[in-house]
Amino acid sequence: MSDKRKELIVSAISNGTVIDHIPTDRVFQVIKILGLDQLSNPLYFGVNLESKKFGSKGIIKVSNKFFEHEEINKIALVAPSATLIEIRDYEVVDKRDVTIPETVDKIVKCVNPNCITNKEEVTTHFNVIYDENNVMKLSCRYCEKNTSKENIFFI
Ligand code: CTP
Ligand code: ZN
Repeated sequence: MSDKRKELIVSAISNGTVIDHIPTDRVFQVIKILGLDQLSNPLYFGVNLESKKFGSKGIIKVSNKFFEHEEINKIALVAPSATLIEIRDYEVVDKRDVTIPETVDKIVKCVNPNCITNKEEVTTHFNVIYDENNVMKLSCRYCEKNTSKENIFFI
């Protein structure tokens, strides 16, 4: 392919965050859990894009938005392969892979309807554990029930 065609598939942004290497089937979920659909910031996304590393990937670009610790944890829980790229004045100033935290506080609801966190105004706390198949689960510090990936509901 000639160099003429070498352009960004999804428009460059001047300031903001690029979330790259998202599994295609997680792109809309990431938009939703971060509330990006509720903002008035310019938002670009792409799905089923070619990726050397993953075969296919999704990408989200949001202008004038830089994510806080808890938001980054949310991204890590649904898209652990994601890379966060900070753009300032059109330049990449920071690029980091998200990491699944060891503990998850506040952002996820416990799967157990009888858990105190679902009965009273108690903030949730989970330890991140891995089962014998290395599948991640969130272990509630109050009721000790495990919330599996498919049951993660963000508060
Ligand atoms: N990007 C952007 N706006 C800019 C600069 C970069 O949206 N002003 C995006 C690019 O589209 C790319 C990502 O940020 O998806 C990383 O940019 P860069 O490091 O320049 O790209 P690559 O070298 O292609 O990175 P990689 O090989 O890690 O995908
Ligand atoms: Zn619980």
